[in-house]
This record gives sequence, C-alpha cells and structure tokens, in this order.
Amino acid sequence: MAGNIIIEAREVTRDFGDFRAVDNLNLKIKKGEVFGFLGPNGAGKTTSINMMVGLLRPSSGQIFIDGKGVEKIEKCTIGICPQELVLWDFLTCKESLMLMGDMCQVPRNELKVRVQKLLDDLFLQDKANTLVAQLSGGMKRRLNLAMAVVHQPDIVVLDEPSEGLDPQSRRVLWHYIRSLRDDEGKTVILTTHLMDEADRLSDRIAIIDHGKLLRLDTPSNLKKEIGEGDVVEMKLSNPASNQEVINILADMPDVQAVVEIDDGLNVRALDAVGKLPQIIDLVETTGVHVSDLSIRQNTLEDVFIDLTGTGLRE
Ligand SMILES: Nc1ncnc2c1ncn2[C@@H]1O[C@H](COP(=O)(O)OP(=O)(O)OP(=O)(O)O)[C@@H](O)[C@H]1O
Ligand SMILES: [Mg+2]
Repeated sequence: MAGNIIIEAREVTRDFGDFRAVDNLNLKIKKGEVFGFLGPNGAGKTTSINMMVGLLRPSSGQIFIDGKGVEKIEKCTIGICPQELVLWDFLTCKESLMLMGDMCQVPRNELKVRVQKLLDDLFLQDKANTLVAQLSGGMKRRLNLAMAVVHQPDIVVLDEPSEGLDPQSRRVLWHYIRSLRDDEGKTVILTTHLMDEADRLSDRIAIIDHGKLLRLDTPSNLKKEIGEGDVVEMKLSNPASNQEVINILADMPDVQAVVEIDDGLNVRALDAVGKLPQIIDLVETTGVHVSDLSIRQNTLEDVFIDLTGTGLRE
C-alpha cells in the first residue's frame, strides 16, 4: 500500500438484519488530508466512519489503518468526536480533558499544557472549572471536540462537529480543523450537512447515498463535474407551469440542466448573465412571469442535489 495512505476501506459492507447500511465501500484516505463525508440522513456516513475507526465491525470487507487491520491498532491513535455528545455531566471541562488524557496515558506535565492550550484554542478558558451540565450546547460541542484530540491522535474523526454551533463557534471550529491539518499534520475525517463547510474545509469529499459511494474527488472537481456555468434560480408566478417551462428551457443551446427545486427552478447554463433576457422571454411565452430571480455560481449543494435528489430520506 502506498505510504501516504492512512485509511483504506476495501469492499466494506455492513448489514443490520436485512438492511444494507453500507454497500461495498472502497476508498483510501491520505495522511494529512481533511476528508469530508457527505450524504443525506441515513446515507451510511456514521456507520462507515464507525467501521473505519474500529467501533463497528463490517459484515464483510476489510479496513486498514496505516497498512494494519483496524482491529489491531492501538485505540489512542484515533480521536473520535461522535455525532451524539458523550460527556460526563458532573466533571468540569478541565477534569473531562484530564480524564481523557489519562485514559491514553499522556504524561501529566504534557497533558496539563495540552489541556490549557485546547481550552484556549476552543474558547473554553472561562469555563475550565465549570461543570459540563452547566455548559451551553455549543460549549458542549467544543468540549467534545477537545476531548477527541487531547491525546494527540494521528487521526481525528469528527461526526457532524458543527451541529448546533452558531456562526462564531463554527468559525472557531473551522480554524481549529485547519490547524489540526496544517500545524499538527493530523488526518481529519469530517461529516457535515453544511455544504459550504465541506467545501471550505475538505481536501477531498466522498458523497454517499443508500450506503454506496457515489463520488470521491476534490470540491473543485466535483463542482466542475456538473458544469462550469452559473446557476439561475427563479420562481414563477404560477408554479403549476414549472414542468412546461423546464421543457422549453432545456432545449436552449448551452443550457446544461433545468431542475425543479422547492417551488422554483434552477437553470444551469454557460454565460447565464448573457442569456438572461432570452431565458425570461422564453418563460413568458408560456404565459407566466418570473416573480423572483437570482444568479450565482455553481456550489457543492448543486452537486449534492444533482447526485442525491431532493426527496426526504426519513
Ligand atoms: N445499530 C443499527 N441498527 C439498525 N439500523 C441501523 C443501525 N445503525 C444505523 N442503522 C441504519 O443504517 C442507515 C445508515 O445510518 P447512519 O447512521 O450511518 O446514517 P448517516 O449517514 O450517518 O445519517 P445522518 O446524517 O442522519 O447522521 C440508516 O438507515 C440507519 O437507520
Ligand atoms: Mg450520522
């Protein structure tokens, strides 16, 4: 196996009874990258990462960490920040971090310095001696993250770390994730439902749905894949005409796709600004008017919806 690969999943499948949650997953994660996992609710992200870090056994297939079977690795080489918070309510922030460090046998002197730095980096210094039960939701998330990294694992797994964070805390989190990669050389695996977050942070992204890997690429390649054009978002005066308008616009030259999103239409086209008058004229031939319109660049969310559709999973 190439030396720069830290995690490899080979033909990994996981069944729960008759239900296949992860279906023949093959992927390689490189040392020192931020690897994003995207997928709708129930896609199999948590199940996949739990298998990749040895918390859950695959029904079939193999996982290798740095070339070794995951079942043989030293548990403290991985730091896990689970989707569901795991905290001790009646310890303080500092005590929680010291306990995690002790469990991985971090020398006391080193641990004290590390705990202080983490409390500072994650803006929890004022809460060092506060009981976990008295923290806000966002503070608990930040503490959960600190607990995943206090023993300086090589691999850090963050399952929806930004869930419930306000925009300020999210920026602290982003800065911290980048510093894990850039200053400490860690490999970070991240799941999120925020496309913008995945785009900003990830070196590469896996998109999964129904347990299957649909794509694995850099955010910029993923965005190029569904066209290099712009997206025109519009709402019509009569949404009942959406399908008729889709049929007409789809025939325009250089229009790459027209899809219905919510109660509006997204038109993906090269040089959408130049084509705008023509697009509006064509819409109006059907007797409806454009009631709202905006133009933006293609985003990862467009790729995500293109691949996984708009239907709810749960
Ligand atoms: N222990 C379990 N027993 C039975 N089914 C399970 C179990 N764990 C997960 N599943 C099912 O496997 C599928 C994938 O779940 P998973 O938690 O991996 O999804 P996810 O992609 O992390 O979703 P979310 O974005 O909602 O966190 C779901 O249909 C879920 O109900
Ligand atoms: Mg999950």
